[in-house]
Amino acid sequence: MSVAAPAPKANQGAPAPRYDGRAKVTGEARYASDFSFPDVAYAFLVTSAIARGRIRSMDLAEARAIPGVVEILTHENMRGEVKKTKFLMDGGPASNSVLPLGSPEIAYGGQIIAVVLANTFESAREAAYRVRVEYDSQTPSSTFDDAGTKAQPVAEVSKRHEDPAVGNFDQAFATSPVTVDVHYSTPTQHHNPIELFTTTCVWSGPELTIYEPSQNVYGIRGGVAEQLGMDASRIRVVSPYVGGAFGSKGSLTQRTALIAVAARRLGRPVKLVPTRSQGFTITTYRAETRHHLRLGATRDGRLQALSHDGYEVTSRPDAYSVSGTDASTRMYAAPNIASSVTIVRADRGTPGFMRAPAETPYIYALESAMDELAVALDMDPIELRRVNDTMKEPIKGLPYTSRSVMTCFDQAASAFGWSKRNKTPGSMRDGDWLIGWGCAMACYPTLMAPASARVRLLPDGTARVETAAHEIGNGIYTVVAQVAAEGLGLPLDRITVVLGDTMWPPAPVAGGSITTASVCSVVAQACDAIRAKLTDGTDNHDLVGLLNKKGPGAIEEYAEWVPHGAKPGALQALYRGSAMPVGGARLEDRIQFAFGAELVEVRIQARTKEIKVPRMVGAFAAGRIMNTRTARSQLMGGMIWGIGSALHEETEIDRRAARYVNTNLADYLIPVNADVVNVDVIMVPEEDKLVNPIGVKGIGEIGIVGTAAALANAVFHATGQRIRDLPLRIDDLVAIS
Ligand code: MOS
Repeated sequence: MSVAAPAPKANQGAPAPRYDGRAKVTGEARYASDFSFPDVAYAFLVTSAIARGRIRSMDLAEARAIPGVVEILTHENMRGEVKKTKFLMDGGPASNSVLPLGSPEIAYGGQIIAVVLANTFESAREAAYRVRVEYDSQTPSSTFDDAGTKAQPVAEVSKRHEDPAVGNFDQAFATSPVTVDVHYSTPTQHHNPIELFTTTCVWSGPELTIYEPSQNVYGIRGGVAEQLGMDASRIRVVSPYVGGAFGSKGSLTQRTALIAVAARRLGRPVKLVPTRSQGFTITTYRAETRHHLRLGATRDGRLQALSHDGYEVTSRPDAYSVSGTDASTRMYAAPNIASSVTIVRADRGTPGFMRAPAETPYIYALESAMDELAVALDMDPIELRRVNDTMKEPIKGLPYTSRSVMTCFDQAASAFGWSKRNKTPGSMRDGDWLIGWGCAMACYPTLMAPASARVRLLPDGTARVETAAHEIGNGIYTVVAQVAAEGLGLPLDRITVVLGDTMWPPAPVAGGSITTASVCSVVAQACDAIRAKLTDGTDNHDLVGLLNKKGPGAIEEYAEWVPHGAKPGALQALYRGSAMPVGGARLEDRIQFAFGAELVEVRIQARTKEIKVPRMVGAFAAGRIMNTRTARSQLMGGMIWGIGSALHEETEIDRRAARYVNTNLADYLIPVNADVVNVDVIMVPEEDKLVNPIGVKGIGEIGIVGTAAALANAVFHATGQRIRDLPLRIDDLVAIS
């Protein structure tokens, strides 16, 4: 078997090639903006040049004079047409609370202030640059430490929020023989999926079809229905393939309703393909965070006290917070724990989900502090994790459904050759290159949401699965086909899977690494129902033979599945597009997480301080692995992104203007092939009979979680210099040497 298709180990599924692979490499797969329509009008956005204030006047004369321009939507002619829909943290679909073209007020830089519509893309773009805007501008607050920002404990603004705590932290910390008291920070980051944030709307009488790359087609449908005062059943959202999302396509942004209104006014289809740069402000981003970590331990490394205070930037209107203390306080057996999360409101767009939203920054801080503690103890960092390993989370004493974190460390360490590590910083060297080996734990909550699906078996031995799940590169077409093939006893190539369309039964948002666990559970349930109906308790399991013998033209089952811990009404919420993922650290009776261990080698040029990452090993245990090929890709993609989050990525803000500076892929740095050398993914067999019927924990996000800390810890090991603010820069190493 090739490296890309690892041989399955215990409780792992076959590395079937991607169901959608051929369609994607041949260009047959149609992404949202690939759908074309006669007489389409093109939209181009005008976005705000200031971050705070109001529009005094707009002069559209020059823009309207451009040949081919048919209409320009502004707050003056739109006011009131798009109604409010709830913000996602309040249980709604919206990524922020600013009403699309709802008023002349400007809440953040890059806010949509006009939509130019024309017969060609070029006319629309030309006209957009000729819209003259005068503003009454106020000095904005950009981020932490700026005058005018407002700090609020999340506990004060969110009913759902908890600050995990147990025992008496202050006392335990004060009396701990070995302590660490440190601060970390992470910058603004943007997802930048290759597929842009497009929207195309087509009306047919009172029926609206929206083509938009989405992680939540039912969420968009429900949100737009509310915004336009329509019956949701008159709206269809189509998104069969998504060219990268990572959280940025999980919520309803302002553009969708605007394009729907534009198409209705014009009486023709309207297509929007925004620019790469506009993508930095018309959707969400990963907020900058700060962390204060305090750890106290005995001399043999047992944690006595752990405190994590997190700080996150958000917008004025929305109390968005990822609150990763939910996870970071529960990973180790510390008897005394304190935590808090504070949001800092600035004149910014509302941040949102980005791959492992909570864990990426918060576990970076925790796992960096653990490394600092290992140094203070003169202890091997893997041994420090072993000493503090636990099968019960420390806050309420709830049992983990399964937890294989030390198995992950052991397998990763063995593959990496960790036993050859000299723990003295700066002691490993190869000529001009300083060598550093670092490690970190990775974790991700096992979350699920209700899901539904329809499975139809035909007498010719084919079957079709319909569910409005989302293929965002996660491999869901493939694993759904595998589950159906197994459930019905058919070869894989006899299964058709259709996804990403509100024509099909609802599936939840493709976020929180919930899709495989949720959707495969319901597909397996539908297949079981077909089997039960056909076999009637006999031991004849030739379903196609039985179907032909019994004589119906087809047998079809519609199934609904609800995860452990779901609230009453969760299924109705699913149909409205607002099913909330449940699980992780928020269950009454147990805690469920996937775990991993990431080990990284860095090589740092002794004089120039250039940082290279020649190899990484990640071992992950996440319950049943459905397909070792697609799973390996997911995990590897996360680890590679982790290199970016540690070394490259930062959206730079002009602090005077509260505007982003590097809004393009030349200046927003990400890892390229030369930055990614050897990435070894180990899938550790694990069986979890509790999490869900198929035993899947989810792997979409965990790959990125430990990388930044492992890399920062490796940089310390190479140099003896601790950099606590991401990204790690050559300048930081030059400045301190
Ligand atoms: Mo993921 S950031 O939960 O889409």
